[in-house]
Amino acid sequence: ATPAPPWPYPLWFAHRGAGRHAPENTLAAMRLGASLGWRAFECDVRLSADGLPFLLHDDTLERTTDAAGAALELDWAELSLLDAGGWHGRIFAGEPLPSLDGIAAFVLRNGHALNIELKPAPGDEERTGRLIAQAVRRLWGEAVHDEQAIWPLLSSFQPQALAAAREAAPELPRALLVDTLWPDCIDIAERLGCSAMVLEQSLITPALIGRLHRDGLRVLAYTVNDPGRAGELIELGIDGLISDEVDRFVPAD
Ligand code: G3P
Ligand code: MG
Repeated sequence: ATPAPPWPYPLWFAHRGAGRHAPENTLAAMRLGASLGWRAFECDVRLSADGLPFLLHDDTLERTTDAAGAALELDWAELSLLDAGGWHGRIFAGEPLPSLDGIAAFVLRNGHALNIELKPAPGDEERTGRLIAQAVRRLWGEAVHDEQAIWPLLSSFQPQALAAAREAAPELPRALLVDTLWPDCIDIAERLGCSAMVLEQSLITPALIGRLHRDGLRVLAYTVNDPGRAGELIELGIDGLISDEVDRFVPAD
C-alpha cells in the first residue's frame, strides 16, 4: 500500500458548476454556487474544432444552447457567440459558453478549487486530454508555483484522455471516473498514476472505500443529492462529494 499524499481539495464540489439552479457549465452557475458558499466546482470540458477548451456536457449543442449539431464541428469563434443560458430561464438569456481560460480567471481570482472532467467527443480522446492538460499548466502553473492556488483535478471516464493528459503534463492530479465497476478499472486507475477515483455514488461500499484507500487512492462520489446518503459516505471516510443541491447542502469545510 502506498501512503496517500495530502489531499488539498474541499469535500464538496458543485456539479456542472452549480448547474441545477443556473445553466450548467456556465460562469453564472459558478457565481451562484460561490454566492451560496461553495468553494469547489466540477465542470465538463471539451474542445472546439480549432482546439480551444470550453465547458459543455453533451457532444451536441441543442440541449443547452440555442444551436444544434455536433459541438466539435464549430470553431471557438462560432461557439463563443451562442446563448448557453436562455434554455434554462429568461434571466440567463445571453449567458455565453465559457472558455476554460475564462473559468480559470474566475476560479483563480476567488481561490476556488476545480475538478475538470475531460469530456472528449468520440474519437477526440487523445487531443482532448493533451490540449486541456497543456492549457491547465499554462493557466494555473504560475499560481500553483507561488502556492496561491491548487491544480485542478483532471477526471475522465476515458482512460485514453487521462493517459494523454499525463503524457502532456504529468504533474497534474488525475482521477478515473466510473459509472460501473468494469473489469480492472482500479488497476487501470493505478497504472494511469491517478490519485483518486470518482465513482457513481451507489457503487460505493465500506469494503470498496477501504480497498481504494489501502491502495493510496482517494475516493469521490457523484452525484450525491440525498442528505442521508451524503452522511453515510462522510461516515465511511469519503474524500469528495459532487452534488447538484447547492441550496440544500452548505459546505462547511
Ligand atoms: O464528474 C462526475 C459527473 O459529472 C459525471 O457525470 O454526466 O454529469 O458529467 P456527468
Ligand atoms: Mg461531469
